[in-house]
Amino acid sequence: MALEAGPGPMNIDRFAIGFDHRDRERLFALWEQALDAEVWSDGPLTQAFENAWTSLNGVAAVATSSWTGAALAAFEFFELRGRTVLCPSNTFMATPLALRAAGANVEFVDCNRHDLCMSFDDFEAKADRHSPAAVVLVHIGGHLAFDSDRIAGYCRDHDILLIEDCAHAHGGSWNGRRAGTWGDAGIWSFAPTKTISTGEGGMLVSKHAELIEYARAFRNYAKPDYAQPGLNYRMSEFTAALGIVGVERLEEIVTWKNDVARRELDPKHAARVEFPAGMVSGFYKYVVFDPIERSTGKVYDEPCHRVLGHQVDLPNSDWIAEHHWCAPLYYNPAVRPALEAVSK
Ligand SMILES: Cc1ncc(COP(=O)(O)O)c(C=O)c1O
Repeated sequence: MALEAGPGPMNIDRFAIGFDHRDRERLFALWEQALDAEVWSDGPLTQAFENAWTSLNGVAAVATSSWTGAALAAFEFFELRGRTVLCPSNTFMATPLALRAAGANVEFVDCNRHDLCMSFDDFEAKADRHSPAAVVLVHIGGHLAFDSDRIAGYCRDHDILLIEDCAHAHGGSWNGRRAGTWGDAGIWSFAPTKTISTGEGGMLVSKHAELIEYARAFRNYAKPDYAQPGLNYRMSEFTAALGIVGVERLEEIVTWKNDVARRELDPKHAARVEFPAGMVSGFYKYVVFDPIERSTGKVYDEPCHRVLGHQVDLPNSDWIAEHHWCAPLYYNPAVRPALEAVSK
């Protein structure tokens, strides 16, 4: 069956992964490389994707089959079993579920209303109360958590591990600094909705060489000596090829999204997330605080502490669940003018 070339019309009622169809040829050439080499997993394309991610973010990287695989590698490496870990309630359930799967005791922290990310004030209060071994800081929406510096400073001073959930943060930066470089580890997702996707996929980044080495073994049953935990969290070469192409296109995607946001969405949405000086959002989501007619929905409908029945008062997380919406902002350069018609 022949595939139709070229991007289709943007249709916000039907979510479409923002693959740039000009990249088909490049992608198919990489897939041919995998077939020619007859190396289908954990090979040169995976390594090339990791190298590209390192060049982009300035920190060593290990590719995995999903965010979850990378998260479990980090949580096991830091031996969080039976220890308390602070986690924002305004995140995807993956964050607390992976912590629980690794045996950690999760305590939820509130967010700020202005950036949807962990609040330093509530983090400090919860750190005082629970003496955590670690905190997971989630960068929600494509920008970086505004309190990243303060939370990282507190963690340094109090010997708390800082792990960043970078699942939304592709292309975001703050004064040139990328997500995943504040903490002891950063965990990325390339799941289907992400700013660049590999279908499924993840990446662990860390300044700790021992963690990088541990994660490489962790994703492959801890071969050859099985001296540490490990299962199959490998990335296939075909998946890695999508990642390479995505990295090559990322800057253009982020520039495009920022351009559309500034010119076409900002004038219509006065009540929105406003970024501090020097911050660039990758615009995984364009978040507004007034209801909009043609919203693509919410980042999350229900805070995790409510889903999991934790009896803790997190008023800002509850407020955010009620009072934010996302305006459509899907990368698709060929249909740029159509945005006018589909966003209120
Ligand atoms: C904040 C956050 N953390 C973790 C994940 C989990 O990623 P994956 O599906 O690759 O395991 C997601 C995925 O959507 C996410 O949004």
